[in-house]
Amino acid sequence: MLVLGVETSCDDTAAAVLRDGRTILANTVSSQDEVHGPYGGVVPELASRQHIQNILPIVDGALKTAGITLGELDGIAVTYGPGLVGSLLVGLSLVKGVSFRTGIPYVGVNHLEAHLLAIHLEQEVPFPYIAVLASGGHTLLYCVKDVGNYIHLGGTRDDAAGEAYDKVAKMMGLGYPGGKVIDQLAKSGDRKAIRFPRARISQSPYEFSFSGIKTAVWHYLKTQSRERWESRRADIAASFQEAVVDMLVKPTVKAAAACGVRRIVLSGGVGANSRLRALMKEKADAEGLEVFFPAPKFCTDNGAMIALAGTHWLKRGRRDDFRLNADADLTL
Ligand code: KG4
Ligand code: ZN
Repeated sequence: MLVLGVETSCDDTAAAVLRDGRTILANTVSSQDEVHGPYGGVVPELASRQHIQNILPIVDGALKTAGITLGELDGIAVTYGPGLVGSLLVGLSLVKGVSFRTGIPYVGVNHLEAHLLAIHLEQEVPFPYIAVLASGGHTLLYCVKDVGNYIHLGGTRDDAAGEAYDKVAKMMGLGYPGGKVIDQLAKSGDRKAIRFPRARISQSPYEFSFSGIKTAVWHYLKTQSRERWESRRADIAASFQEAVVDMLVKPTVKAAAACGVRRIVLSGGVGANSRLRALMKEKADAEGLEVFFPAPKFCTDNGAMIALAGTHWLKRGRRDDFRLNADADLTL
């Protein structure tokens, strides 16, 4: 089965062609980092306009790279939520138009589901597994029992982990998006230099909170001269990152033990973080658990994961009609 995947939920315009849910024939992403960089975060209206400019060349490019024509596709998968409604509408409208014109069936894909299944693009990971989905918009913990069978264990009460990275990077003048930059900078810093607080939600062991760490870094910067903290940027980055990663790892390992699940899978942009990978592996090893990481390009938003999730549903016979609308708050 040959499936085109289209993703425009936030600020990446992405398309991929996937054969039989296994072979990636093309996977093309156009990032808008330069457009949003000066604002330190995604500006929704600008994101929609960029998607409109990029979507046709990206989809055409993916088909060309794959060496196929539209007519050869068995189906199209497109993200219909959650995300920025203006951004989602660009991808969804394009796919509906193509489907209407060509008769190729299409399915709307839940972006969260696609992240949870992205690991299967590269590795055979048996179900069930605990998946931690940490991105710019979400921080969620699921027990993934099978395709379509997701048990929600917890999530963030306030900011997403990636959002904390992006905001702290902005405070420190490191640019946007902040995750990758802080990850790099932290490599030369001391993780124990500053003890930033770790939020714990007493009512639920699987809930997260990242607004406090963001405020703690802000206070730390305010209490120092700019000259002083700039000379300690690597230590601040490493200490901030250690707190975030700690807050992500503990509930995940706990969830695996409590649910009797032996495997942990990372997903979402923050899943690409080198320290998160290292600490998750260390703590999971200590408990006899296995950890699986998608390649960084499959952690961040991409069309291949949308094509993969879509392939599962198309194979099960699902077809969406033209009444499907973008849903900014879609849940799993
Ligand atoms: O999954 P994604 O591409 O988009 C959303 O669905 O949000 O995630 C983007 C987020 C951004 O907040 C970015 O700063 C963060 O993932 N990120 C990272 C790393 N690479 C991207 N955070 C920490 N370490 C990284 N290496
Ligand atoms: Zn995402």
